[in-house]
Amino acid sequence: MAALSNLLYLIRNTADPTERQRYLATAEEQLNRASEVTKQTLSFVRRESPMEPVNLSDLVEAVLAFYSNRIQGKHITVERSLTAASAFASRDQVRQVLNNLVANALDALSTSGTLHVRLRTSSFGSRPVARLLVADSGSGIEPEYLRRLFEPFFTTKDTVGTGLALWVAKQIVDAHGGCIHVRSRVGKGTVVVVCWPSTGEERVPQVLAAHSAQQA
Ligand SMILES: Nc1ncnc2c1ncn2[C@@H]1O[C@H](COP(=O)(O)OP(=O)(O)OP(=O)(O)O)[C@@H](O)[C@H]1O
Ligand SMILES: [Mg+2]
Repeated sequence: MAALSNLLYLIRNTADPTERQRYLATAEEQLNRASEVTKQTLSFVRRESPMEPVNLSDLVEAVLAFYSNRIQGKHITVERSLTAASAFASRDQVRQVLNNLVANALDALSTSGTLHVRLRTSSFGSRPVARLLVADSGSGIEPEYLRRLFEPFFTTKDTVGTGLALWVAKQIVDAHGGCIHVRSRVGKGTVVVVCWPSTGEERVPQVLAAHSAQQA
């Protein structure tokens, strides 16, 4: 907004038409950026979906389906390794985290790369957790950028990135008592691991199965 006000001031006080065009183009870029920032922030704040057991593999499929055009357009291979796992979470917020991670992976991938999504149940101390991994064989991240990834507005995508997606993802994961980690190697790719407190519900069918077997 500050940049926009400055640009408007310059446009008003510049007689040279070429300069004015340049300022106008920059103002347009800044406006698009402000609109993206607003969208991200609002979608974060607006979410009030209740905490409930969320089937993560269904959600992964829904997000991959959402991005299917981009995936096909770039000839990206998707490798899934999904076991039944549920998080005790706000469905819309989990979806937003997943969306943001898959979007980043797709941005980083060039044609014919691989996107890998893996879902497992695990435990953190005595707590059951669902561990979700999103990995890409894309550009990777420079070591000096790694510790800045979760800062608001940190982006390497100039005017097309807001630098809010990972920050929002971290706020959401932290609010759920989960964790998020990134590993990356330039030219090799990036792995993001998110753990969500789990309901442990995926064990229920097994318990029931054992119970039914005993009854029989
Ligand atoms: N999978 C990835 N591969 C390579 N770089 C990544 C990946 N994920 C994140 N990054 C780096 O982290 C930065 C911050 O990511 P983040 O998603 O927060 O913002 P963005 O993608 O730049 O913009 P937007 O907020 O519009 O998503 C990116 O600009 C990029 O440099
Ligand atoms: Mg992003």
